[in-house]
Amino acid sequence: MMTKLLSPAMRQAGMDAVMRGAGKFTRFLPISQPTLMVGPGSSGRLGEAIAGMGHRKILIVTDAIIAKLGLLGPLTKALKAGGADYVVFDRITPDAPIPLIEEGLAFFKDHDCDAIVAFGGGSAMDAAKLIAIAARNPKPLRDLAGYFKGLRNPVTIYAVPTTAGTGSEVTVAAVMSDPERKQKLVAMDTRVVPRMAALDPALMAGLPPAITAATGIDALTHAVEAYIGRWATPYTDGMALAAVGLIFENLPRAYHDGRDLVAREKMALASTYAGLAFTRANVGYVHAIAHQFGGLYHTPHGLANAIMLPLVLDYSAPAVIERLAQLAVRAKLGHERESDETLAARFIDGVRALNAELGIPSTLADLREADIPDLARAACKEAHLGYPVPRYLDEAGCEALIRRALPQEPRAAAKPAKRAKAPVRRPRKTVAA
Ligand SMILES: NC(=O)c1ccc[n+]([C@@H]2O[C@H](COP(=O)([O-])OP(=O)(O)OC[C@H]3O[C@@H](n4cnc5c(N)ncnc54)[C@H](O)[C@@H]3O)[C@@H](O)[C@H]2O)c1
Ligand SMILES: [Fe+2]
Repeated sequence: MMTKLLSPAMRQAGMDAVMRGAGKFTRFLPISQPTLMVGPGSSGRLGEAIAGMGHRKILIVTDAIIAKLGLLGPLTKALKAGGADYVVFDRITPDAPIPLIEEGLAFFKDHDCDAIVAFGGGSAMDAAKLIAIAARNPKPLRDLAGYFKGLRNPVTIYAVPTTAGTGSEVTVAAVMSDPERKQKLVAMDTRVVPRMAALDPALMAGLPPAITAATGIDALTHAVEAYIGRWATPYTDGMALAAVGLIFENLPRAYHDGRDLVAREKMALASTYAGLAFTRANVGYVHAIAHQFGGLYHTPHGLANAIMLPLVLDYSAPAVIERLAQLAVRAKLGHERESDETLAARFIDGVRALNAELGIPSTLADLREADIPDLARAACKEAHLGYPVPRYLDEAGCEALIRRALPQEPRAAAKPAKRAKAPVRRPRKTVAA
């Protein structure tokens, strides 16, 4: 009740103080990083390494499409050659629904496994992470959502991403979907970061263009939200800038020619760098809203982000003009000599142009006006519980922002909103990665 009476400015100030405190904590939180193997064939090399680790039995968690495409081949061949015992659970579907993760957990136990390879896009990788936590911490999966909800260390995880988007191979997060409540839930634990991971562009050559596009913009959104958020550090800045540069250069190439393994490898690296940035600096309103679209409409995560990213940037711009200007320069969308206002506008326009080139719509076909109040409420709740957003939004503002993604919105809404001159954050020194 009291919080409803506070002005947005006061709430922003209060949130800033809380988030700054939390930011000091995350800045020093120890987060391990996996040993990375990179390049065509690296999933086989990872298999050789895992075979030498002396596990009793390894569970490979993946989805049916990946298994059918034969993408597991190099890994399983190497495991066999190295004498390692493994079983495959290939039933995960997009956004890892809780009942399927429970099946995977039962499979893990039935086969007496003691290690997991998370093999696939974010959905399979996150399901694997959740099986790894739940195997050691028996409680309903829903109760694992939140921070450090498992007391005991998860089972050892290795990862092979087959999309270049989520960065889950290096992050502390695992997303599941709760079909009963139509919600996406996130478990956060520094111990779910995989021990080793392979970024193998050869596995991504057949990724369809629409999935390449959406997952690539997911990675872009991680980098941008980490860069403009209030927990950014010189380390996350370096990672975010590197990711943004690589994505603007290589995502169109990978989209137009999936067999371009150089572009695929650079996108895989960009996704990992963006993961390293946001796992420490966190995300913002784009993700908070996208998760609600995913929960209610099953909108693919990257697509939901891609639609909301320019809209949220329009709103956030007055608070982060200089940061957006730096991103524009790194994306080669403008020159340092230009004013920050010009460069920031170029960046947001550049995101829209990239979306258009990748065939991504500017509105969400499934979005219904009647759902918007609930979507906005849930998005604000998610964001205000833990995302260090650069410019505060109240529920009415969030509703207005989501409304701009309605399909019947006139074309004028696709233009960037007039960006007001407003208090600008002090620029941070940035570090090249
Ligand atoms: N843990 C994290 O840090 C994190 C970060 C961002 C997003 N996520 C979550 O990850 C999920 C989305 O993951 P995603 O975007 O990678 O998509 P996804 O894993 O849902 O995969 C999308 C589709 O692409 C197919 N696919 C995957 N790799 C393929 C390949 N190489 N060739 C052909 N088809 C392939 C899959 O079979 C699936 O049908 C969402 O639930 C999202 O919330 C997690
Ligand atoms: Fe994401």
